[in-house]
Amino acid sequence: MSQRLLGKTAFVTGAAGTLGSAIARAFAGEGVRALVLADLREDGLDIVAKELGIETVTATLDVTDGDAFDGAVADAVERFGTLDVLVNNAGNVSPNARVHNLSTKDFDDCVAVNLTGTFHGVRAGVRAMRGRGRLSIVNTASVAGLTAWPYCAPYSAAKAAVIHFSRVAALEYVKEDIRVNCVCPGAFPSTLTNGLPDGALDVLASRHPGGFGTAEDLVGAVVYLASDESRWTTGHALVVDGGYSLP
Ligand SMILES: NC(=O)c1ccc[n+]([C@@H]2O[C@H](COP(=O)([O-])OP(=O)(O)OC[C@H]3O[C@@H](n4cnc5c(N)ncnc54)[C@H](O)[C@@H]3O)[C@@H](O)[C@H]2O)c1
Repeated sequence: MSQRLLGKTAFVTGAAGTLGSAIARAFAGEGVRALVLADLREDGLDIVAKELGIETVTATLDVTDGDAFDGAVADAVERFGTLDVLVNNAGNVSPNARVHNLSTKDFDDCVAVNLTGTFHGVRAGVRAMRGRGRLSIVNTASVAGLTAWPYCAPYSAAKAAVIHFSRVAALEYVKEDIRVNCVCPGAFPSTLTNGLPDGALDVLASRHPGGFGTAEDLVGAVVYLASDESRWTTGHALVVDGGYSLP
């Protein structure tokens, strides 16, 4: 195993979930010295933490709460002395429905976690680390933010906005050693996709020429963007989708 994140400290949201826990395991394998695992759900975080064998802090955090996000990141910086990597990975999906069947709450709930939550994370990272050292922020967007996903308008719109928000933030902080990039996964089986109706997953799978991926197929991209290997890359949306977005 390479040690591309040797000695670094990191903060990962959605860490009790499928991709977030895979990112945590990959970071530990790449030499991260200390990690905050944050999620709305407490259950699952301890299980992930016990696997890792490094200094780990678990934090119950609702990413829609900006003050709580500021506090959690500031605590991490104080405890670890610095924060090198912040992964805004928490996400939820909107109901599988066309626009006329969606409520305003359906739309707002999806935007609140995926977009506002990412804004809160980037803001918290910048507030805590600006002028103190180098920070790499990686936001989990989606190919749904690059291609039109029917029955998924709030989620697609929120993820598209995450990509563009990240580009603007990247430009604003490029001279201050703070990078902001996105990964854009294709669909992969997870707790999130388990909620889709029967048949929807098969339709999605059939649209990936390279077949369905797994969370483990995505973590290499996150490690790359988190590490100094990508030190001259910012504002980028790295697509990892088994060819989904090619046709
Ligand atoms: N699974 C896919 O097909 C797919 C495809 C593209 C992008 N993504 C994105 O990948 C990321 C991870 O999703 P996953 O597939 O691992 O799903 P998941 O449901 O396993 O993980 C998402 C995690 O986010 C947490 N979360 C939800 N709302 C939160 C909040 N308000 N505050 C804090 N945590 C919250 C959940 O508790 C969960 O643990 C998400 O951003 C998702 O949109 C997933």
